[in-house]
Amino acid sequence: MSDRYERSRAQQERARRSLAGGVATAYRAPQRPLPISFARGRGSGLTDVDGNEYVDYALAFGPMLLGHSPETVVRAVRQQLATGIGYGACHTVEAELAEAVCRTVPCAELCVFSNSGSEAVHAALRIARAATGRNRVIKFLGHFHGWLDPLAVGIPGLRDASPATGGQDPLASSAVTVCPWNDLDALRAAMGDDVAAVIMEPFAVNGGCLFPDPGYLSEVRRLTEQAGALLIFDEVITGFRLALGGAQQRFGVVPDLAVLGKAMGAGFPISAVCGRAEVMDEVVSARVRHVGTFNANPVCATAALAAITELERDAGHLYPRLEQLGSRLADIFRVEATDAGLPLVVNQLGGMAHAFCSDGPVASHEDTLRTDAAAYRSFAGALLDEGVHVISRGLLYVSTVHEDTDLDRTREAVGKAAAATAAVLAEPTTMRDTEAMDATGARR
Ligand SMILES: Cc1ncc(COP(=O)(O)O)c(C=O)c1O
Repeated sequence: MSDRYERSRAQQERARRSLAGGVATAYRAPQRPLPISFARGRGSGLTDVDGNEYVDYALAFGPMLLGHSPETVVRAVRQQLATGIGYGACHTVEAELAEAVCRTVPCAELCVFSNSGSEAVHAALRIARAATGRNRVIKFLGHFHGWLDPLAVGIPGLRDASPATGGQDPLASSAVTVCPWNDLDALRAAMGDDVAAVIMEPFAVNGGCLFPDPGYLSEVRRLTEQAGALLIFDEVITGFRLALGGAQQRFGVVPDLAVLGKAMGAGFPISAVCGRAEVMDEVVSARVRHVGTFNANPVCATAALAAITELERDAGHLYPRLEQLGSRLADIFRVEATDAGLPLVVNQLGGMAHAFCSDGPVASHEDTLRTDAAAYRSFAGALLDEGVHVISRGLLYVSTVHEDTDLDRTREAVGKAAAATAAVLAEPTTMRDTEAMDATGARR
């Protein structure tokens, strides 16, 4: 029988000889039947090194909101590449980009740039600690804020505040309190006059696209104000995706600081911290020294400016379209898979969704721990065989360029893949993926 993934397999074997673990980030390792190597991305589609084509709902773990290689971004970047790759000095695009962020994101009066979401989260914590003169930070169980030590505790898939990986410094998170989300009593109990900031994903995308309870965000806003602590929204995923102004625009609750990344750069590594001028004054006054060789690199800044410009120009059309595509995609996964014998629960808002193999609703972190993550990974592998590429742990992203024909193709693929997965799961001793992994796909 011919191997559909022959070249990917050879590529993986080659990579393993020199690239530790064969993948550049551990979250790519859980892909079944193996981590696929890609050769091209265009619009809503990917082509792998074997020439197999896929409708892509992973979108590089979120950033490709405008699809793969969007023409406007490519054109602007090409021009910038010919002009200058890096100056290690000021340039005109960074101010223009900062203006675009401040124009579009409700809390943004000033901003700074970094290269990744993790870095920008770290910068936001520093700014918050300096602005309040306090040290403790509250984060929520099942929320993800990147790989750096202080907040890489209690991430999706973990039952408690344990560290995400070996090698973390326990002292780095000693001033971090992990609270259950959507639980105001727990937050009230954790608050105190030593709290510098409360940080959260305002729509808990990583943990399962879990919704804030009605009134929860505004009450957290009130509690933080009352306690003299800052509210930080980690909008690395929701920024520019849930609305032009992110979750804060969509939910109508404005934080003191917000962290942006992913979609902002249209695939280029750039992130930002933005917020109230009074708080960002820590950077203006240089009490917080915000540094980084590549900060606001002209190529990345150009990509981000082109992306925001396009989103801003067409916001009235693009965001309703994302909502419609996201909702239809969620329905397809829910209905077609369940009809084929693989019960799927799908939470969705705007251009993002999270699917779980589960018989019951998934509305809380505890619910996510009861779902069958291994079964979903197998299903994601079966989807690959049918020409649909998704993230193995359940997240689904749509872009502004997905089309009805993509959804039609997906409908058929989901039915077939679900039937194949259900058949495998029904076998007594099977090729079932029983390897212990957490919900983020990381090996325990
Ligand atoms: C909400 C959130 N914050 C922070 C990060 C970290 O971003 P990065 O991977 O760019 O460091 C991520 C990454 O997935 C994220 O989803």
